Amino acid sequence: MEKPKRSNKLAIILAFLVIFGLANKQCYCDVVQFVFGDSLSDVGNNNYLTKSLARAATPWYGIDFDNGMPNGRFCNGRTVADIVGDKMGLPRPPAFLDPSLDENVIFQNGVNFASGGGGILNETSSLFIQRFSLYKQIELFKGIQEFMRMKIGTEKANQFFTEAYYVVAMGSNDFINNYLLPVYADSWTYNGDTFTQYLISTLEDQLKLMHSLGARKLTFFGLGTDGMHSLATVVNFFGQLPAVNEQTR
Ligand SMILES: *[C@@H]1O[C@H](CO)[C@@H](O)[C@H](O)[C@H]1NC(C)=O
Repeated sequence: MEKPKRSNKLAIILAFLVIFGLANKQCYCDVVQFVFGDSLSDVGNNNYLTKSLARAATPWYGIDFDNGMPNGRFCNGRTVADIVGDKMGLPRPPAFLDPSLDENVIFQNGVNFASGGGGILNETSSLFIQRFSLYKQIELFKGIQEFMRMKIGTEKANQFFTEAYYVVAMGSNDFINNYLLPVYADSWTYNGDTFTQYLISTLEDQLKLMHSLGARKLTFFGLGTDGMHSLATVVNFFGQLPAVNEQTR
């Protein structure tokens, strides 16, 4: 008579554990975005890079934004990343170099690593002296991950990074400030096809690296400039554009 009672109790306890375990898994973290990109998404990083020749600090930048003062965006109003994020109801992540960045700001808003002049290739835009290439931006992201694990604990941090949205908008500078300028070695090392292959395989490695760091919902924006359709191959390979890419799972 004792035995069945015990196993009943055990079953109830187990059921509770399962229910609470599942409930716990849906931790309620804010969903934020991490933005990687170039001047089209920069929200102020380059303004903190005082030696950079690509800074949006002149008066005509930002005239349609908030108080009309230059805010580091290379445009008059919102960037593409701002507009897409606003439509998705996501908070606007501050620039990585923004001095107000701490664990609370990151947890509630994400981080924007985009840097004017940044490219898929390390050597792109070296003429601007200072800018964050995509590899550099991923390195900075790794640092943010370590910082958050230290501040909020590994488990919570890992969940936070898995649930976040990732935006990568890059590639134009690799043509404009690299391949198409004869001062760069790439312009005489490659032809259009081999350069595009080089770019695609580098980007593929970078997106895989981001996946290995926990990125699951990733959108890659293609090149804005007409006549550069070759990168559409990457876009097709990694999923539809600009839909959130579930294929990276
Ligand atoms: C690009 O830069 C990163 C560091 O930011 C480095 O780890 C990587 O090896 C470099 N890649 C090439 C091809 O130089």
